[in-house]
Amino acid sequence: MNKHHSANPAGPHGPTVAPLRAQARDGASAHGQAAATTAVTTATTAAGVQRVRPATAPDHEAVAASAGGVLLKAVGLKKDYHKGKHVVPVLRGVDLEVRQGELLAVIGQSGSGKSTLLHLLATLDRPDEGEIWFNGQRIDNASTRQRDRLRNRHLGMIFQFYHLLPELTALENVLAPLMITHGFFSYRLQRRRLVERAKALLETVGLGHRLKHRPREMSGGEMQRAAIARALITEPQILLADEPTGNLDGRTGQGIMELLRSLNTQSNLTIVMVTHDSAIASQADRVVQLVDGQVSDS
Ligand SMILES: Nc1ncnc2c1ncn2[C@@H]1O[C@H](COP(=O)(O)OP(=O)(O)OP(=O)(O)O)[C@@H](O)[C@H]1O
Ligand SMILES: [Mg+2]
Repeated sequence: MNKHHSANPAGPHGPTVAPLRAQARDGASAHGQAAATTAVTTATTAAGVQRVRPATAPDHEAVAASAGGVLLKAVGLKKDYHKGKHVVPVLRGVDLEVRQGELLAVIGQSGSGKSTLLHLLATLDRPDEGEIWFNGQRIDNASTRQRDRLRNRHLGMIFQFYHLLPELTALENVLAPLMITHGFFSYRLQRRRLVERAKALLETVGLGHRLKHRPREMSGGEMQRAAIARALITEPQILLADEPTGNLDGRTGQGIMELLRSLNTQSNLTIVMVTHDSAIASQADRVVQLVDGQVSDS
């Protein structure tokens, strides 16, 4: 276990990371001692726990997950791509277990299938064979609607190339998932409170001074922070991060790593992080390697 703590992991503008769920819920008021108290309450109330879990999850599975049990599990995943007549085999039987509260790094050479695996875990794509389980529920064969709902409420995804919407500001990009979750009328009704939540989260990742900047007006590290905030605004149970430091210089990348570590430590956020950087991977709790389409302990 190699937990890293930093007084200011989000860089020069970044505050210390107060417990995330309290911040996201309570908006700007969630700083300082009051925030810490709220977080403990939130984490232990039945309502708080149910909020981040599929409604149909059996109770014993939920208890296992909250006690450090297996939160996400892949069994025998296989995936080929088809390019004209050619078949490109990528995953050839991936088995993987992610435990509640851990920060897991997945390493592997370029083209080994890391992004493919993460997209399958995030239900953005379906495996050809195998199963994916989340919180005791099988999710790879869920309907499109169920998968959309799962992604919108329980899984946070950071893409390899950010995928921020170019016409929206940092604040609007972070608000976008909430517009989808709430729907137009509910969002309009709660807009003020939701905007405060988004602002508080952007503060948390050190972007409080860039709320109105569009992606082209932000640095790579700032875009990455905005993408992290967008992934976290719906209070996911797990964050799937594809090369979160991949496009950044070493120092900026280390700042993002420390931010992820703080979110993991202080908000008990489970994180699966794909990286090709061994220095970054070495800071995870556990490292697995993707080689020849299979995952092995590193
Ligand atoms: N849509 C697609 N059609 C055909 N082949 C694809 C497709 N997407 C990915 N591939 C191939 O699958 C393999 C795995 O791709 P993937 O993006 O998962 O690799 P990666 O490990 O994430 O690589 P990197 O470290 O460069 O991001 C690569 O050889 C890639 O060319
Ligand atoms: Mg990739």
